Amino acid sequence: MAFPSAWLDELLHKNDIVSVVSDYVELKPKGRKLWACCPLHGEKTPSFSVSPDKQLFYCFGCHAGGTVIQFLMDMERLTFYEAVQQLANRVNMELPNEINDREMQRQRAYKKRIIEANKEAARYYSSCFLNPAIGKDAQAYAMRRGLTSEIVTRFGIGYAPDTWDSLLKLLKSKGYSEKELVDAGLLVHNTERNTVYDAFRGRLIFPILGVNGDVLGFGARVMGDEKPKYINTGDTPVYNKRNNLYGLYLHKNEKLDDLIMVEGYMDVIGLYKAGVKNAVASLGTALTQQQARLLKRYVEKVYIAYDGDAAGQNAMVRGLDILKTEGLEVRVITFPDDLDPDEYVQIYGKDGFDRLKENALSLNAFKLEAMAKGYDLNDENGRERYAKAACAFVAGLQPIEQERYYKQIAKKTGYALEALEAQGVRSGGIQTGESKPMIRGGFRRRVETGEDPRDIIERTLIAACLHDKRALGHAMEAHAEELFRNTVYETMFRAMSEQGSAFLPAKYIGGLEGKDAETASAVLREDEAIENAVESAADCIRRMKRENEEEEIAKLQAILKKPDLTAEERNAVLKEITERIRANK
Ligand code: UTP
Ligand code: MN
Repeated sequence: MAFPSAWLDELLHKNDIVSVVSDYVELKPKGRKLWACCPLHGEKTPSFSVSPDKQLFYCFGCHAGGTVIQFLMDMERLTFYEAVQQLANRVNMELPNEINDREMQRQRAYKKRIIEANKEAARYYSSCFLNPAIGKDAQAYAMRRGLTSEIVTRFGIGYAPDTWDSLLKLLKSKGYSEKELVDAGLLVHNTERNTVYDAFRGRLIFPILGVNGDVLGFGARVMGDEKPKYINTGDTPVYNKRNNLYGLYLHKNEKLDDLIMVEGYMDVIGLYKAGVKNAVASLGTALTQQQARLLKRYVEKVYIAYDGDAAGQNAMVRGLDILKTEGLEVRVITFPDDLDPDEYVQIYGKDGFDRLKENALSLNAFKLEAMAKGYDLNDENGRERYAKAACAFVAGLQPIEQERYYKQIAKKTGYALEALEAQGVRSGGIQTGESKPMIRGGFRRRVETGEDPRDIIERTLIAACLHDKRALGHAMEAHAEELFRNTVYETMFRAMSEQGSAFLPAKYIGGLEGKDAETASAVLREDEAIENAVESAADCIRRMKRENEEEEIAKLQAILKKPDLTAEERNAVLKEITERIRANK
């Protein structure tokens, strides 16, 4: 939803950037600015500055910068909306859509109740685990699985005693209604007999926490080999497994290089115990887009490390493209002998795991490997069919990458490189979405993540103009408003041109709806433009002009191919093309 302009004004006015930043670091005045060591990246000498008059921050070390909203987005890894919500909370402002909205408030209060109930339950399960009499078997089981008391505490592991009503009695005595507890998934309602009873009984408990530390639900494992192995909290007003990643809350305030995606509770815990602390689990489901977006808030690079069994491998293939689409760099770790990550580190330790990680496969190499599983490579016929399919796939990749993968196929099938390349050329290549044209220079890194390079250029131009008035002046002179293809950026640029220094990006974005707001707020993350804004803007304008021009020429060339063109028309078009090409020389 969009925030009304007056409301955002008030929010920014009430949340002075100096006071918000001071919740995180101590600011010291020097000149017209306040300074501190940057809380967004580690450093020893202060290069993080806050300008009270402009209500902006900027770090000369990591080039993060922007309004108080951007600061919270970076600091707490929030989306634009979450940051606005948090700031509203901070100064007791009601969110615009909630003002007078009783239903919304009621729902929020209800969710809070459920989270409170979950927290009480987690405490209870933990006390049962630690109780020498009640928790005896659970402690023995945990010990057998190598769960130290430190791990038990870290992950809040508990035990649900094997009774029908002990949690029910406890939480009812604390004032929770049966309906609340059933809605939380802590009790089960038997409709036939109209009775309720504890959902988790005689099981080891893994609390599932949201990134803000709320207890959202539970996983409960049998301590023998009965089925089902795990029971999990289903959909509740506060939890949906598709939106959450187990273990992510442990990293809320850390800077991470990468995250490792695993399947299960015990994989996260086993890796953690071995010293690999950055694993999170999708909890047995295929990875969702929401989970991929969540990951993207923390890292650029994700290793997928699913179980070595067939189910794990299949889930992996599906998850890969979702991650890629969200712009994450993806690597694949595969485990030998059907081992899962937990088992693997128990045998080979952190060193073994680190070696696997170093040798992790790129997305394409993994796809080729996965493809090979569908053929019998011991058989001449199977090798041939695999080679054909694999070459068609490779032919659709970037030329530079192809060599590496043809070698991979050669190694697997024994065919000569030349034969494979010729085969690839003949197949014409399967579209893999990787063969988009690339742009020279600094944008290359990001082009690989699957974004439209043109959007990055347009966004960079806006970021440069926001950062430096001279860049904006230059862009206005060049009539940049006529060059944009992305209408969100075009509109934003026009607003900047009109409003000049009165233009506040955070406020502008707050006035946009849904996808548009997302597109526009990406501008705030463009730091490449900051370093040398004027030059950067000029470069973007050049690129946009050239691309637009190329597009025009391509359109004219398409006209030339029309069969029913008269000689006169043909000549006119040719002349126009020639003129355009010459003008660009
Ligand atoms: P796994 O069977 O690999 O379990 O399922 P695990 O996490 O390695 O646990 P251990 O080592 O056997 O104790 C992976 C995940 O799939 C979900 C759970 O989230 C589990 O962690 N799952 C599995 C279920 O929800 N229910 C089940 O019955 C089995
Ligand atoms: Mn497993």
